Amino acid sequence: MEFYLDTAQLDEVRTAVSWGILRGVTTNPSHVARAGVRDLRRHVQELCWIADVPISVEVVALDADGMVAQGTEFAGWSPNVVVKLPTTVEGLKAMARLSHSEVTASCQGCAHAPDCPIRARFAQQQRLRRRPEINATLIFTVNQALLALAAGASYVSPFVGRLDAVGEDGVALVADLAHILRVQQQPGKIIAAALRHPVHVTAVARAGAQIATMSFAILTQLVEHPLTAAGLEAFLEDYRRSQEGSQGQ
Ligand code: E4P
Repeated sequence: MEFYLDTAQLDEVRTAVSWGILRGVTTNPSHVARAGVRDLRRHVQELCWIADVPISVEVVALDADGMVAQGTEFAGWSPNVVVKLPTTVEGLKAMARLSHSEVTASCQGCAHAPDCPIRARFAQQQRLRRRPEINATLIFTVNQALLALAAGASYVSPFVGRLDAVGEDGVALVADLAHILRVQQQPGKIIAAALRHPVHVTAVARAGAQIATMSFAILTQLVEHPLTAAGLEAFLEDYRRSQEGSQGQ
């Protein structure tokens, strides 16, 4: 399973990159507001520079024309941008239009563009001009996910914790969806989103999500275990003692 960070905080992304496990970032308007972002283009381009991974950027328009206009603009900011669209009727229309359009990632305005190895790699692979990838967000049913995939989304994001919070079973939705995509041999990746704790992460992996997106706090919790810390301390203590003993011989 791939680990994504659900954040717009540059430091969190930088840290997760240094761990060698980060495969993507999902932002949303709430994360962007929390990070105090004033210039979204500059911020997204900085994220792309820090993390050479797919970065979902969400539109705030509610009508298809507005979503297509915003999505087209976002996709031009970096070849790593994935356009995040809400799973509504207008969102479906925008998914269908955007996924059939071609956008050049000109990276205009990016401070790193001149010597950017990411840009050079995409250029070499002739992938700067491409059909924008779409992450269909705010998914709470299998049918919403199937519709989004039919409209051209590459990723579908079921919100696990938000379903649990209203007495439904978010992990069961992921399991159901993963099963149906296998049976239908339908391409498309499930990004299990709105995860609330490490148990959710294991559960959605078991259920068949290809990707789990989570807060930096949850990602940190995944690494830590008291027995790991205690075991390490005991090993080092034994090693220290053995060194003291060998010095006396
Ligand atoms: C997914 O891409 C969303 O950004 C995210 O998981 C939102 O969930 P939350 O605000 O309920 O945590």
